[in-house]
Order: sequence, then C-alpha cells, then structure tokens
Amino acid sequence: MRDLASTPIIQTVSKQRVADYGEVYTSPREVNAMLDLVKQETERIESRFLEPACGNGNFLIEVLSRKLSRISSRYRKSRLEYERYAVSAISSLYGIDILEDNVLECRNRLYNYFISQYIDHFGFFTSDDLPNTAKYIFNRNIVWGDALTLQTVEDNPKPIVFSEWSLFMGGMVKRRDFSFFELLYQSENNSMPLFSDTGEDVFIPEPEKEFPPVHYLKIWDMESAV
Ligand SMILES: C[S@@+](CC[C@H](N)C(=O)[O-])C[C@H]1O[C@@H](n2cnc3c(N)ncnc32)[C@H](O)[C@@H]1O
Repeated sequence: MRDLASTPIIQTVSKQRVADYGEVYTSPREVNAMLDLVKQETERIESRFLEPACGNGNFLIEVLSRKLSRISSRYRKSRLEYERYAVSAISSLYGIDILEDNVLECRNRLYNYFISQYIDHFGFFTSDDLPNTAKYIFNRNIVWGDALTLQTVEDNPKPIVFSEWSLFMGGMVKRRDFSFFELLYQSENNSMPLFSDTGEDVFIPEPEKEFPPVHYLKIWDMESAV
C-alpha cells in the first residue's frame, strides 16, 4: 500500500502563496530520492524526523509509509506488537508549518494513512483508543508555527514545544516536553552537539515538563491524569 502515501499531488496552490510562503510542494519522486539518501534511518522505527516547513507532509507521509511497511513485515501476525511499534513510528514524526490549512491537512493525511494501513492488516480496531492516541500524537507533533521565530502562530504566539515520546517495556510511554529554542540554541551556546556517532560529549537538554508514564493506548487521555 505504498501507493497511497505517494499519491501525486498538486505542487502549487496559488501564485500568491508561492510568492508569500515559497509554497511549492515536492513531488513523490524527489521525496523518495532524497529519503533514499538516509534510507536506513527512514526504515528504523524509532528514528526521529522533523520537517520544519512540512506543508501537507510530503516527506513525513513517506517516512511513515516506510516505517509502517517495516512494522508490517515484522509484526503483522501480532496485533499487539504491530500497535506498539506503530505508536513508536507515529510519535517519531514532527513537523512545523506557518499555514494553518497545511498543518490540518498534514495531520489528517498522516492519521488517515495510518488508519487505512491498520484496517488493511487487521480489518477493525478493537476500541477507539489507538485511533485517539494516533490523533493526539499527530496533533501535538505537527505544529502550526513559524520555523524562523520558533513561535507558534496564534493571537498570542508561544515558544514551540515538542514532546519526546519514549516507549518502555510493558507498553508504557513517558512524555517529556522540550522548548524547540532550547534544543536548537543551548547546544550551540554550550559548543556541544545534540548527537554524536563518535562518542564525544553531547548536550543533554532539560525538559520543560515531564508527564507520568501511561500505557500507549491511553496517551490520548494523559493530560487528565496530570
Ligand atoms: C517549498 S514548500 C515545502 C512543503 C513540503 N516540505 C514539501 O516538500 O512538499 C514550503 C513550505 O514552508 C512553509 N513555510 C514558509 N515559511 C515558513 C516558516 N517561516 N515557518 C514554517 N513554515 C513555513 C509554507 O507554508 C510551505 O508549506
């Protein structure tokens, strides 16, 4: 079912939006060619991707497609395993766009794709918990914001905050919220990288907020527990 994710799309909405926002969508062929440069990471279930001007999610949907294909080939016989790894894949995708309609379309596209893949494999959901969890995570991870000012786009703009979702044994998930500004600039101020493959010291950011662990199927209800 890779075709659904890669459905060709229009590349521009209006001349005005091209002029104002540089809005020209990337074609599926280019998306795939670029993602193939980091193919291994696009298929690693928990590797995190941020698309900072995500439009309607052309890169994110292809990464989701690749991850779900990997999960399907490994875990399609076990609904529980598939679900747990699918939540890990869903929660690894982040986006920002300055236009609200793009953000809404991106969230819906990712959500609908996940739902269609799940129904293809298992026919039905046993409850609303997993769809609600997927919706909750996409709503949090795909941010209506300005990737240059690092603020949300609202009447009262606020600093963009991203949630880290960590899955543990037993299907429990820990959420920690980080300021995007801190993630980007504190590591720079400390002259330390955020990541290292070579074993050097890395910058360890402090979360703004931590939530008690919850089961992955109850992520959608986590704020009621705080
Ligand atoms: C060239 S399109 C790319 C969309 C998508 N990444 C793709 O490849 O199909 C640029 C996108 O950046 C968004 N954008 C422009 N300025 C932005 C800003 N300051 N912060 C976040 N998004 C912005 C536009 O709304 C548009 O969706």
